[in-house]
Amino acid sequence: MNSSINAACDTAIVSFKNVRKKFKTTQGDLLALDDFTLDIAEGESIALLGSSGCGKSTLLRMLVGLDTDYEGSICVKGRPVKGIEQERGMVFQEHRLFPWLTVAKNIELGLLNDQLSPQERQSKIADHVRLVGLDGFADSYPHQLSGGMAQRVSIARGLVSSPRILLLDEPFGALDANTRTQMQQELLRIRAESRITTILVTHDIEEAIYIADRIILLAPRPGRIQKVIKVCEAHPRERTPFEFHRLQKELLYTMTGDEAYAAETRRLESLSPSAIAL
Ligand SMILES: Nc1ncnc2c1ncn2[C@@H]1O[C@H](COP(=O)(O)OP(=O)(O)O)[C@@H](O)[C@H]1O
Ligand SMILES: [Mg+2]
Repeated sequence: MNSSINAACDTAIVSFKNVRKKFKTTQGDLLALDDFTLDIAEGESIALLGSSGCGKSTLLRMLVGLDTDYEGSICVKGRPVKGIEQERGMVFQEHRLFPWLTVAKNIELGLLNDQLSPQERQSKIADHVRLVGLDGFADSYPHQLSGGMAQRVSIARGLVSSPRILLLDEPFGALDANTRTQMQQELLRIRAESRITTILVTHDIEEAIYIADRIILLAPRPGRIQKVIKVCEAHPRERTPFEFHRLQKELLYTMTGDEAYAAETRRLESLSPSAIAL
């Protein structure tokens, strides 16, 4: 197996070992994931990249503790995941805000199990309203927000209980292109500020290259790791520099098998001594 699949095991905050997941369907068993093994280091930014149906959401649901019916093991800080815990926050593609609750009350839902005094609670909520750039909107209702603002609220709700790991399932997929770009920058800023491990599910190659330290490329039927690519470029990343372009072609080749992308990758590689370790 590719050695770069595993970060140093002793520093792994998340460890998937030989995970295999089947769903029972009316047509029989469907193997959604097979032999998925991956260690993620504390503070790492991971992108799970792959087309629809290759098991990305299933992986996140298992890691967050919503689905515990699988073979193999998933450990967080060396302990098997048994159910939902505060150390793992989750953000979904749809913001899933309650329309009858204000921004502050929606964020507070992320604190339901916290034993905090009312003052601590209010101060945490205010901190997170600020963190996601929504100062002045704490008392607004979801229908008064744009799509990007609503998604900021759901990120704040995912972060308010101070998780060590934030899982994001195509969080910007429903936003228009400009808002998506803005939210990607926001995510990088929040990551830098809160210093947490993030696992971002996406089918957008550019988003993965822009955000991640490591891209885990998944292949479908059954979902499995096809390739692991390390992105060494420092932040803030330019969206169209040479290495970005080369990586994009390489990923497109791996995903489609189209030789034209391979030729373009080789041509670009011949022009540059790589700054990226693969
Ligand atoms: N509850 C379920 N019952 C049956 N099949 C499912 C269920 N959830 C997901 N699947 C199947 O498992 C595969 C992976 O799904 P999913 O993790 O949602 O993929 P992705 O998020 O990468 O699009 C798909 O083939 C999907 O149809
Ligand atoms: Mg999905």
